[in-house]
Amino acid sequence: MTEPAHRSHWTNRWTFILATAGSAIGLGNIWKFPYMTGVNGGSAFVLVFLACIALVGIPLMMCEIMLGRRAQRNPVDGMQLLAAEARATALWKWVGIMGLFAGLLILAFYSVIAGWVLDYVVRAAGGEFRGIDGATAQARFNAFLAAPLELILWHSLFIAMTMGVVARGVNSGLEKTNKILMPALFAILLVLLGYSMAVGDFARSASFMFTPDFSKVTPVVVLSALGHAFFSLSLGMGAVMVYGSYLQRHVSIARTTLFVAIADTAVGLLVGLAIFALVFANGLEPAAGPGLIFQTLPIAFGKMAGGTFIGTLFFLLVAFAAWTSAISLVEPAISWLTENTRMTRHQAAWLIGLTDWVLGIAALLSFNVWKDVHLLFGLNVFDTLDKLTTNILLPLGGLLMALFAGWVMRTHHVQEELGLASGAYRVWRFTIRFVSPLAIAAIFLYLFGLVK
Ligand code: PFF
Repeated sequence: MTEPAHRSHWTNRWTFILATAGSAIGLGNIWKFPYMTGVNGGSAFVLVFLACIALVGIPLMMCEIMLGRRAQRNPVDGMQLLAAEARATALWKWVGIMGLFAGLLILAFYSVIAGWVLDYVVRAAGGEFRGIDGATAQARFNAFLAAPLELILWHSLFIAMTMGVVARGVNSGLEKTNKILMPALFAILLVLLGYSMAVGDFARSASFMFTPDFSKVTPVVVLSALGHAFFSLSLGMGAVMVYGSYLQRHVSIARTTLFVAIADTAVGLLVGLAIFALVFANGLEPAAGPGLIFQTLPIAFGKMAGGTFIGTLFFLLVAFAAWTSAISLVEPAISWLTENTRMTRHQAAWLIGLTDWVLGIAALLSFNVWKDVHLLFGLNVFDTLDKLTTNILLPLGGLLMALFAGWVMRTHHVQEELGLASGAYRVWRFTIRFVSPLAIAAIFLYLFGLVK
């Protein structure tokens, strides 16, 4: 397929891998995975999540990169172009449109949490955690949530940071940022892990996360684990597709996917292990919910020697991880705007930034002024944005992409892009045609009460 002459590309295979890992590894791994594990009964959630990564996540990530690279376009025009190539209806472009909006909705609540993280970098650096106990940590966190202006300030800063990078473009924005931040993140993670292994209750943490207890596997746990697999790997909304569209032809999609999926899963598991080891060693509550890392970790940082330093590093790590993910959340929309309107990347970044700034303010008011305002299923604005995107839009986007690649595209086009050996290709194709779509559809049908 011919590609537009002016399009940017990653400098090499590693910058693509770093950027995709940067997109995948984020608040999903460090903030959400531990608290979801805590809320959903520990190992039950972890094991279903791992199955979802293997059976749905990895094949779909290959699929999304493949679609992006073949089309060399933003996800909306890309899907339309690929549909035309397969002589199918142009309606497939709606997969791209849905993803583009999903990204905007996710950034709205993502930026709120990233704002909390920025605030906690400053608190940690100021030595606020020194000697802090559970009740004080909780009270401080609750007081922070009750102050909308402060939340707005941090949320605004995070949106500005994100758009600042996005406006610079693929090579000097996305690529440079990821090249510096991702290795820094791994280094800081190792320090935290070492500390928690030395002083935390590692055995209890490991047994909480891995001892199989299938009595706790409920339909809600399964849907949450599936949704989180999508969220964590950045799948189903075109982020990986648009990153794939900047990828050169000769890079192996399968190897890249495996690397990113393993790195992403490993970071989630390691952070989870480190956090629960500290939670148990300090007699804290694993099911504390979204406030988990903010209410529990300060106590641990407050007790440890060098805690001010390690605590600051930790929250910095989380902020870096959130930043490199946030830029990928808006890239589908930015690439669509710049490829379809006269807008420059700067203007597109302003437009999207402003939209997400307003949406994010609505989300953060859920923690205070709009506590009792309920939208879908009795959820507040924040939870509606989270559940609607994570549990519905992302899996639905993934389901449609799998159906498109498995049933609509010409198989020689798919194989040309993936370049797999024939045995591996057959396994992938079977998974993407049957296993992944049926798994997603079955969970949807069950949840919406259509099958019992
Ligand atoms: N994968 C990111 C995380 O785990 O924090 C969140 C995310 C980024 C989701 C990009 C979806 C996406 F397209």
